[in-house]
Amino acid sequence: MSTRYETQPIAWNEAFSVGVDLLDQHHQHLAHLINQLAEHSGEDLRSEGIVDILSSLVAYAEYHFREEEELMSLASYHELEEHRQEHLHFCEVISETCYGASLGIVGVKELFSYLTRWWRNHILLEDMKYKPFLSTLPEQQRGQAA
Ligand SMILES: [Fe+2]
Ligand SMILES: [Fe+2]
Repeated sequence: MSTRYETQPIAWNEAFSVGVDLLDQHHQHLAHLINQLAEHSGEDLRSEGIVDILSSLVAYAEYHFREEEELMSLASYHELEEHRQEHLHFCEVISETCYGASLGIVGVKELFSYLTRWWRNHILLEDMKYKPFLSTLPEQQRGQAA
């Protein structure tokens, strides 16, 4: 039995737009950080380069989630709690993965594959649901979350 891993870098396009420039920029930066992992695919997950990318990714994802949740809250988005749980789940998986990496049981390929799938699915299936709600926010609020 073989596992198919995602190996292609993420390419952002309009289909991923959630209608708020600030959040689109965040998503693009997350994609950029995830794509950097692909450039280190031959390395051990414990290597310095990978650890740096992962810590930037975790910090940026947490920042992005906070801002996104703030905008959802401003728009009185009814599925905010469920969405917050999705974000929390991602943070948990990443910390477990980092632990797995420290034990040498998770490789860069698996991690890259998980992250690219997560990025795509989360934006298309979860973030996209708030699009019509956030579009009702005044321009000023959309440009500057908390
Ligand atoms: Fe989200
Ligand atoms: Fe997001």
